[in-house]
Amino acid sequence: MAVLETKNLAKIYGSRGKGIPVKALDNFNMTIMEGEFVGVMGPSGSGKTTLLNLLATIDSPSSGEILINKQNPYKLKDDELAVFRRNNLGFIFQNFNLLDTLSVKENIILPLVLENFKKKEIDKKVEDITSILNIKDILNKRTYEISGGQQQRVACARALINEPAIILADEPTGNLDSKSSHDLMSSLEKINKERQATIVMVTHDAFAASFCNRIVMIKDGQFFLEIVKKSTRQVFFKEILDALSLLGGGYNENI
Ligand SMILES: Nc1ncnc2c1ncn2[C@@H]1O[C@H](COP(=O)(O)OP(=O)(O)O)[C@@H](O)[C@H]1O
Ligand SMILES: [Mg+2]
Repeated sequence: MAVLETKNLAKIYGSRGKGIPVKALDNFNMTIMEGEFVGVMGPSGSGKTTLLNLLATIDSPSSGEILINKQNPYKLKDDELAVFRRNNLGFIFQNFNLLDTLSVKENIILPLVLENFKKKEIDKKVEDITSILNIKDILNKRTYEISGGQQQRVACARALINEPAIILADEPTGNLDSKSSHDLMSSLEKINKERQATIVMVTHDAFAASFCNRIVMIKDGQFFLEIVKKSTRQVFFKEILDALSLLGGGYNENI
């Protein structure tokens, strides 16, 4: 089943202002099936963040359509959209976005508390997700008492706890050292495989991308090419590097 579809999606910035309008995304079509782990790559300024913001319903398209679980979120009223977001979307950001006045556990359960889940259900979900992410021992700590790698795994737990239809991640390894990046990507891979979680991740890092099953490359706001993992991660990594060199400059210094 398709969890996410974009149809002729376009975003033009500044079309109402006096400056020259920027076509950040142009006629972009993408279909993501349930259980896929898709990486989005492209040079700096190619429209990756624009795409993710549209999928995240943070920003609205200039034209075209987005369907998430066959629903067009842009047709919902504000209060319906807030509920839709909570039920369907999980976010993982580059800078973790945890609340430092709360404990690790309080951060993780926030989406469930907002949905009035019962304590017993909450505890069961916390147990499940924190054992996958290996953060069971730090539940009572404050976010400033744990490492960056642990903070990002906590952010993952929060994004995953209510089992959203799609997890959207923008450069989740951007602020992590290589060991923490590896741990995080292994966890995401595990969650994708064991829970059939659907993940869309923007990254400029070929190593992180090699954990995905499919990479969509964009250039100048348009679909450029896609590659699918057929054998090992090592072979896929090499194929991603080859595709990036085809794509041309700027991808490696991009955020
Ligand atoms: N809020 C904005 N207003 C005007 N132009 C923007 C805005 N956000 C992005 N852009 C422009 O849209 C294009 C795509 O940007 P972006 O989606 O951030 O690319 P990427 O994430 O791939 O680096 C760039 O030319 C960028 O300058
Ligand atoms: Mg960006």
